[in-house]
Amino acid sequence: MLAPLVLLQIVALPWLARGDQRIINGNTVNIKDAPWHASIIVRSQLQCGGAIISKNYILTAAKCVDGYNAGDIQVRLGTSSCGTGGSKFGICEVKVHSQYSNWRFDNNLALLKTCEQLNATDEIKPIERANKLPADNSRANVTGCGSRSGHWIDLIWDRRLSRSSGIQEKCWRLPVQLHGTQVQILSQKQCAADWSGIQFYLLTGISDLTICTKSPDKGACSSDKGAPLVIDNKLVGILSRAGCAIKPDVYANLLGHTNWLNSNTKD
Ligand SMILES: *[C@@H]1O[C@H](CO)[C@@H](O)[C@H](O)[C@H]1NC(C)=O
Ligand SMILES: *[C@@H]1O[C@H](CO)[C@@H](O)[C@H](O)[C@H]1NC(C)=O
Repeated sequence: MLAPLVLLQIVALPWLARGDQRIINGNTVNIKDAPWHASIIVRSQLQCGGAIISKNYILTAAKCVDGYNAGDIQVRLGTSSCGTGGSKFGICEVKVHSQYSNWRFDNNLALLKTCEQLNATDEIKPIERANKLPADNSRANVTGCGSRSGHWIDLIWDRRLSRSSGIQEKCWRLPVQLHGTQVQILSQKQCAADWSGIQFYLLTGISDLTICTKSPDKGACSSDKGAPLVIDNKLVGILSRAGCAIKPDVYANLLGHTNWLNSNTKD
């Protein structure tokens, strides 16, 4: 663990030297403008974001829930606040993508089946998946409750093997309101190039199964994992690897997972 961290610090030093304390320029979001947004709670801690994709399934990142039992997980829906309000629902089944690996960016998906059926309201509503790949440079929206500091340490934190024990929430001052920001789709080639500096450490797996975004000083960060990437009210991706506005953000490309999603959400 030490060697990769040292390596990552060397890579991150130029940003540190610049003394950037970037705000990942988001705006607060009213849940009515993103009624699909879900907060994933693991053992009572807000862990990740996710998206409601049907009356009983929430899609999130595998990293958020892998290794936990359904009984450890709840979702909070229908609130513009990060830790309060809305309604909490129990999870009765967890389906982690069978090809998920902690060391890669791809296949980082999990489906959470709610115990109760969700009834659509203005604040709680499933989102349809996009049926075509967005063009490079097109705009997209992302919502989340993650860190807004954009500091290089977030990148390291993001790779931690141990899970959040609430320390991050205390030290990193996560927002109390749901945030959203507009980002831009980045070409696969450029994304792979931008991440290649630390490929010793990360088998990135950037491919048709992933989709990247980048915008100067904007983007997703640590606890935004699982965050929904949306274009024109259609779900395009689920955040796999946050770049914290330093590296591109990498999402699971849901079009590349159509078969897995269809076959696991039939019930
Ligand atoms: C949704 O509606 C059904 C039918 O009216 C009801 O049985 C169920 O409890 C409702 N679910 C929630 C979460 O309110
Ligand atoms: C992003 O969200 C804003 C505010 O809700 C909306 O006006 C805009 O159309 C969205 N952009 C995309 C690409 O979905």
